[in-house]
Amino acid sequence: MKKITIVGVGRVGESTAQILAQDELCQELVLLGRRDGVPQGVALDIHESSPLFRFDVKVTGATDPAAMSDSDLVIITAGLPRKPGMSRSDVLDANLQVLTSVVDDVLCYAPDSSLLIVSNPVDVLTYYAWKQTGWDRSRVFGLSGVLDSARMAGFIALETNFSTKDITAMVLGGHGDSMVPLPDYTCIRGIPVSQFMDQKTIDRIVKRTRQGGAEILALKQNSSAYNAPAASVASMVDAISRRRRRILPCVVPLEGEYGLDDIAMGVPVVLGKGGVEQVVELKLSKSEMALFQASSEQIRADLTKVVKGNENV
Ligand code: LAC
Repeated sequence: MKKITIVGVGRVGESTAQILAQDELCQELVLLGRRDGVPQGVALDIHESSPLFRFDVKVTGATDPAAMSDSDLVIITAGLPRKPGMSRSDVLDANLQVLTSVVDDVLCYAPDSSLLIVSNPVDVLTYYAWKQTGWDRSRVFGLSGVLDSARMAGFIALETNFSTKDITAMVLGGHGDSMVPLPDYTCIRGIPVSQFMDQKTIDRIVKRTRQGGAEILALKQNSSAYNAPAASVASMVDAISRRRRRILPCVVPLEGEYGLDDIAMGVPVVLGKGGVEQVVELKLSKSEMALFQASSEQIRADLTKVVKGNENV
């Protein structure tokens, strides 16, 4: 890719920028923030690491949204982070306002880009970004399953002591407490994880995965996670930029898959040139499908909250 813009220079935005630059995933990287000086400072700091990491990406910071002009990809990380005890839905109202104004800028300055949503609640925000742009869903998608699956794989590695290189996990559904980790699609070197651990251990890992973001927030108190989220965004960007056609669980608007419509949530997709090339439908068991349904209902509750809020304006 030629040019990527990251909107929001909080910790996730900054860490993502450093990895994208280090991995030379684009030629030009723009960081957009609201407070003058901050995006410029972050960009300069990353630039100064370039002789050490040996990358040739041009990294600049700006407050003027026009700086995103001609981007191939815009990554939205702007918004309020949650505080300990808050759910991702608790930042919905504030972050929807931020998202709407960023998407207005994208429509004005980067109408041919693809959009990767990171801000929370990511399922709801991805849905609204898709609606607002009116674009094909291949160009509007969000982070969730890559991060949640990485967490699940990480927990399995802690439990088994096997190399993380051999562990692949799969987490679908909304990026919230109702997400759906799928142990049956989780393997160590292709071997089902159930061969290496009992049901009690699997259940414990599933529960910890669901609360993965909250666990970090509760430990750190004043910051959400940002290293694993940034690495997850970077692996999505790598799949797109290098046209890899990787199968990664991402948030996408559903158009009848899994029996659902008019909603965005996490499902496996083929990520390659330009974004989502294909949605992959897994054959879910009855109980997995019930969990997936329950997760979709939680997202719908947030979508309904927004509609009700708008009616009250
Ligand atoms: C988390 C945030 C990114 O899960 O939602 O850490």
